[in-house]
Amino acid sequence: MSAVMEPSQTRGAARTPSAGKPLVVAHDLAKTFDVSAPWLNRVLERKPRTLLHAVDGVSFEIERGKTLALVGESGCGKSTVARLLVGLYEPTRGGMHFDGQDAHAAFKTAEGRKLRKRIQMIFQDPYASLNPRWIVEDIIAEPMREHGLLSGKEAVKARVGELLQSVGLSPLDMVKYPHQFSGGQRQRISIARALATAPEFLVCDEPTSALDVSVQAQVLNIMKDLQRERGLTYLFISHNLAVVRHVSDQVGVMYLGRLVELADKAELFARPRHPYTRMLLDAIPQMHATGRSRTPVQGEVPNPLNPPTGCAFHPRCPHANARCSAERPALLSIGGVRVACHAVEEGRI
Ligand SMILES: Nc1ncnc2c1ncn2[C@@H]1O[C@H](COP(=O)(O)OP(=O)(O)OP(=O)(O)O)[C@@H](O)[C@H]1O
Ligand code: SF4
Ligand SMILES: [Mg+2]
Repeated sequence: MSAVMEPSQTRGAARTPSAGKPLVVAHDLAKTFDVSAPWLNRVLERKPRTLLHAVDGVSFEIERGKTLALVGESGCGKSTVARLLVGLYEPTRGGMHFDGQDAHAAFKTAEGRKLRKRIQMIFQDPYASLNPRWIVEDIIAEPMREHGLLSGKEAVKARVGELLQSVGLSPLDMVKYPHQFSGGQRQRISIARALATAPEFLVCDEPTSALDVSVQAQVLNIMKDLQRERGLTYLFISHNLAVVRHVSDQVGVMYLGRLVELADKAELFARPRHPYTRMLLDAIPQMHATGRSRTPVQGEVPNPLNPPTGCAFHPRCPHANARCSAERPALLSIGGVRVACHAVEEGRI
């Protein structure tokens, strides 16, 4: 019997203070990167500092045991949100509460260790995130050793064996190296490693994007089973709406660092409000089941160093008017979903 308690075992204790409240609350999260030229060049060329607003005022909540998916085109800030949530980045503004606790304040103190144990991340490329020179046993055991969770060789082996089984691999696999596995199996190993500290919240950044379609489904099903068994909470990042539809409870659509729509999955797929959400859905023919006219896909994501004024989507939007290019729409609750669009607010679409 392992000494590390699964969330299902700890849930009773953890629930009391937070019962009924969201486990994760992101409020006004923002991250700005300084991408200026080197100091000397700037002085000689009389250039100002260049700031890139990768994430700008993102707020959402995730209930315990649920999945929020974040979607959006490349560069819209999804991975930056992920890195903010696990404490790899310090926010420029705003923050995150985890189980009622200010996470970014805690990350800086001794409490941060406990919190890092409860929040883990899975990356897109399992090969890059697994040390090729280590055997699987050491890869999965590392987070346990780092957090002082298990002592004794046999206890560690037993726990690693359990974790491998929980992701559909064999305990016999623990003596192998990452290159001896397929891509899907390697991603299962990263999931087992992420589960080693018995976390409650998993931030999954495109966990299946590098895999073949058939293998993607297997890994997604394992993730769903693990969620059910352990009461896990997921933030799931993907640019693939078919995947998002399969795994999420709520969906947040991002455009140039901001959330433009946040809704329950069924609502978002049945009645997408924001023109950008419609454009994303319309790019996938079989998902277009609403009977409305299609929003033509047009244009490209603007340069984040020089974002459009007003609504950042206005150069690509077929419903844009003068207000759209002048005034940035706020994310408002409209008909039970949150949408940032003047035309939706005005009832024009
Ligand atoms: N460390 C960094 N320094 C400077 N700019 C960065 C850094 N990380 C991200 N960016 C920029 O911030 C913006 C958001 O990047 P991010 O990686 O979060 O997007 P993404 O939605 O995950 O994209 P993708 O779908 O391609 O993974 C991009 O313009 C990117 O170039
Ligand atoms: S605010 Fe205007 S430009 Fe932006 S999505 Fe809505 S209609 Fe289009
Ligand atoms: Mg990314």
